[in-house]
Amino acid sequence: MINSKTGIIGLIGHPVGHSLSPQMHNRMFKALNIDYRYVAFDVEESNLEDAIKGIKALNIRGANITIPHKVNVMKYLDIISSEAKAIGAVNTIVNQNGTLIGHNTDGEGYVRSLIEETKIDLTDKGVIILGAGGAAKAISYTLGNYPLKEIIICNRNREKSMKIKNNLEIDALAIDYDEIIHFIKKADIIINTTSVGMTPNLNQSLIKKEWIQSHQVVSDIVYNPLETKLLKDASSRGATVHSGLGMFIYQGVFAFEKWTEISPDPELMKNSVLDAIQKD
Ligand code: ATR
Repeated sequence: MINSKTGIIGLIGHPVGHSLSPQMHNRMFKALNIDYRYVAFDVEESNLEDAIKGIKALNIRGANITIPHKVNVMKYLDIISSEAKAIGAVNTIVNQNGTLIGHNTDGEGYVRSLIEETKIDLTDKGVIILGAGGAAKAISYTLGNYPLKEIIICNRNREKSMKIKNNLEIDALAIDYDEIIHFIKKADIIINTTSVGMTPNLNQSLIKKEWIQSHQVVSDIVYNPLETKLLKDASSRGATVHSGLGMFIYQGVFAFEKWTEISPDPELMKNSVLDAIQKD
């Protein structure tokens, strides 16, 4: 039963209909017997400020923020974590007794799942990131805390990749797709942060299959489909592959911990998402 003591966590985005977060978090609340519910709210840009004020007014305990509000939401919050500030986007809000704190768990979620699934030691590794949007920012910022050799950001729009490069404290380079051939075969890790390869564009990949080497880890943040063309190509070349599902699960794990101070079971969260995907 839901009553006035039930803790509500909201998802604020537009659209939110296809999100798998409600399923993932509600299954976990139930498994841990925590009196919380996760509810999706479809909020248009013009209503964002009122929606955020509503978190306080309704004593909603926390929220996830998704496309297209991750950047604009920042101006309505009381405190922004240093990580979210550096990334320039918020995906998680905690309502701490009326103070709204913004966090970003995307980068941390991504790196945790990369290490967990591939067992890679990031020391001295060279990384190529495809794309320079919000996800690339979060991932490169978190990877920048590891002792990598370098991060190369490849994007159509050089201004955006330069901006990310300039904010990193480790060796970094901004390149475009005409230059990638000179770098890609030597990279240890290739990460696609663009939507290329996402349903319905199943036959698209930003890099040629022949460029992929068997020593490489090839990672895609797309999880719809679970195996993109990039990952299929990488598998057939003998590379280690890492799909976008792990990032989605672990950004949720870290958000869950911030709302409840309880560590959820990533395996159970993953299974509930896989169930939802298979039902679709
Ligand atoms: P997100 O916040 O999810 O990262 P985004 O901010 O829209 O999404 O960023 C998407 C990134 O994917 C962008 O860097 C975009 O390239 P541009 O900056 O040049 O626009 C990149 N991207 C999207 N579609 C692409 C395509 N067909 N080819 C190459 N890059 C693409």
